[in-house]
Amino acid sequence: MSILDTKNLSPRLLSYITAIIIASANAILSLFVYTHWYTPFLVFVVTFIIIYWLYYYTLQRFIYRKIKIIYKFIYQTKATKKEEFFYDNILPQKSIEEVSEDVQKWAAQRKDEIEMLKANEQFRKEFLMNLAHELRTPIFSIQGYVDTLLGGALEDEEVNRKFLGNASKSIDRLVRLVDDLDEISKLESGKTSIIQESFYIQDLIKDVYEELSLKAQARGIQMQFKKGTERPVVVYADKQKIKQVLVNLVENAIKYGNDNGHVISGCYEMDDKHAYIEVSDDGPGIGEEHLPRIFERFYRADRSRARHIGGTGLGLAIVKHIIEAHGQTVTVRSKLGVGSSFGFTLNRTSGTEG
Ligand SMILES: Nc1ncnc2c1ncn2[C@@H]1O[C@H](COP(=O)(O)OP(=O)(O)O)[C@@H](O)[C@H]1O
Ligand SMILES: [Mg+2]
Repeated sequence: MSILDTKNLSPRLLSYITAIIIASANAILSLFVYTHWYTPFLVFVVTFIIIYWLYYYTLQRFIYRKIKIIYKFIYQTKATKKEEFFYDNILPQKSIEEVSEDVQKWAAQRKDEIEMLKANEQFRKEFLMNLAHELRTPIFSIQGYVDTLLGGALEDEEVNRKFLGNASKSIDRLVRLVDDLDEISKLESGKTSIIQESFYIQDLIKDVYEELSLKAQARGIQMQFKKGTERPVVVYADKQKIKQVLVNLVENAIKYGNDNGHVISGCYEMDDKHAYIEVSDDGPGIGEEHLPRIFERFYRADRSRARHIGGTGLGLAIVKHIIEAHGQTVTVRSKLGVGSSFGFTLNRTSGTEG
């Protein structure tokens, strides 16, 4: 009975069917009451017209008007002209089932949106908590030294310079934190443009090695290229940003590596389009449980050690942002007691996305 297929029951059809049934019943009944041959026809026609309009009108008025309101609610953003057309021409043709499907789809969509907002809200709360925590440490330290100096230590030739020096170090840390935050918020808001050019990645790594050579020497760490990957590799990327990625990775490798250890960079041509760059160390490594979260803002694998060394906890988050802004990916491999490797892909030529 395709005509009664509930999927396509429009109010018009519903009224039509109901009117036919009731009019037929009346016509049959009238056979027993009246004698004229045309009476049943007359009864049928009159009942049909009355029932049809009554039923249709009721449906329209009490159900479809309500549905229209619901639709208005759902499609708040639609242009009014379109809306009018929709209400007048499309909506009446929709069956109750279709309307119900639309509403369910809409509800599911809203639910997803709300869940996303909740997750963002949680993320934001955590970020603010972490930020307050990160700010507190250097500020308290500065406050402590300044108060001590004002309390009389200023005249004590033995300690005054040392205390001032310590306060200054904490100020430096605050400045680094604010710089990193600034960088991250720019990257997140999409305000930084990626200006790409072709260059030899090994040249950039050499620059970074030179810049960090004092820090490496201080710990007896040697910085090298992986044997067999010295062949120059051209990449197409934002040179300044990639330099920052390399500085962050090599600095971490030096900071968290073992004394007299090694930092080794490898550059590979993966395929026609992509290069793979990897910065490895033979340091203590990172526990497996930390790896999935290591790129999160303020996440530290070894809290006490990392705090002592004094990073902002934003270095790897910035690395991830920059690499993703290039449409590329960054990965980490690490084993406790063996070392860590951070690697990322880059385009080798222009005109290739991802
Ligand atoms: N090469 C590495 N070896 C061991 N641990 C590392 C290495 N690189 C990063 N980590 C861990 O990852 C954490 C996050 O690094 P990062 O985002 O650069 O922050 P920061 O260096 O300021 O602490 C570090 O605190 C450290 O625990
Ligand atoms: Mg770091």
